[in-house]
Amino acid sequence: MNFDEVIDRRGTNSAKWDRMQAYSGVSPDDGIAMWVADMDFRAPDFLQEAVQGLLDKANYGYFASDEPARQAVAWWMRERHGWDADPEWMSNTAGLGHAIAQVLETFTDPGDEIIIFSPVYHEFSHKIRLCERTVHESPLVIRDGVYHMDFDALEAGLTGREKAMLISSPHNPAGRIWTPDELRRLAAICERHNLLIIADEIHHDLIHPGQNFTPFLVAAPEAAPGTLVLTAASKTFNIAGARLGTVTIPDPEKRSRFQTALIAHQVQPNLLGIELTRAAYSPRGAKWVDTLVAYLAGNAQLFNDGMAQIPGLRAMPMQSTYLAWVDFSGTGMGMDEVLERVDGQARIAPSRGVDFGTGGETCLRFNVGTARPRLQEAITRLQEAFSDLQ
Ligand SMILES: Cc1ncc(COP(=O)(O)O)c(C=O)c1O
Repeated sequence: MNFDEVIDRRGTNSAKWDRMQAYSGVSPDDGIAMWVADMDFRAPDFLQEAVQGLLDKANYGYFASDEPARQAVAWWMRERHGWDADPEWMSNTAGLGHAIAQVLETFTDPGDEIIIFSPVYHEFSHKIRLCERTVHESPLVIRDGVYHMDFDALEAGLTGREKAMLISSPHNPAGRIWTPDELRRLAAICERHNLLIIADEIHHDLIHPGQNFTPFLVAAPEAAPGTLVLTAASKTFNIAGARLGTVTIPDPEKRSRFQTALIAHQVQPNLLGIELTRAAYSPRGAKWVDTLVAYLAGNAQLFNDGMAQIPGLRAMPMQSTYLAWVDFSGTGMGMDEVLERVDGQARIAPSRGVDFGTGGETCLRFNVGTARPRLQEAITRLQEAFSDLQ
């Protein structure tokens, strides 16, 4: 697989490329899309073969069961993450955005507070608000250049109105991997305050070489009765368009409530999602992911080194993911001016940090999941746009 191949996704109904202009004003003619979290790589052969298998059947009628996908998920979790998750504990949803909303609606009530660690994936707060629940931010603090949870401040700030805690593990943005000890501390807090834990582990395969990820229920198995784990093959294998996510619920009563909610809305996974997930979570998929993460880690390093050459910029060291996080506060510029340079002059479209909540106001998130020649071009353009600071 040649990750260096630059592919043109413009005009393919790609959210990242075809909605860039509407999002940021950056024209796709010469702009570089670095916002939506998907990657610009050609799909690997094992996924293409899975789709071909579907085509060969020439029939898209009702399918019997999503069990093949759940079995594949269970295999992957055991092989790659040392987590024994029973396929019977799993329900498939139309992606994890859907899963988050469905979980909130099933297990919390309007007005309930949901704890998130800001700055974090913007859809967390968006979904909480859309579901008419209340966002309870626990701002992350930066120590040694990376994010840490402030456990004391979190507990001191609890009001009793909180119902659940929604975490991104690893964290989006910047890919901090929470340690087993940190996850256990969270589990203990949730136990003390009777909070449901919603562990979104969608980024758990994008672990840079030399780093270790521990699933929530491996770190804190004692928390299983109060925990829901959200996973998907979509970030790892770039198949988000197939809209398939998995919610793993060890507790039988909660699982039954969740499944009833899905059945009520006739939510079923789709044929394509099942076949792609099954093909992805395989020995061939595992080999491909090992190559991918080495490439992504190289991209992250290249990008962060490039940003470090611009005076005043602080790029957070990354342990996982392709979602780089750069703080522009050291330039002394307001974000209007920063964006005038980034979008306007460099013609680069990153995600706005302000949408990630408290702590994100002076930051931009850059998706480095692209071919290295394009990434190098983006770095050069950004350096030029701030060259007067040299
Ligand atoms: C932490 C996290 N959860 C969920 C999602 C979205 O998942 P889906 O595409 O399945 O809705 C993302 C996408 O970036 C994410 O970063």
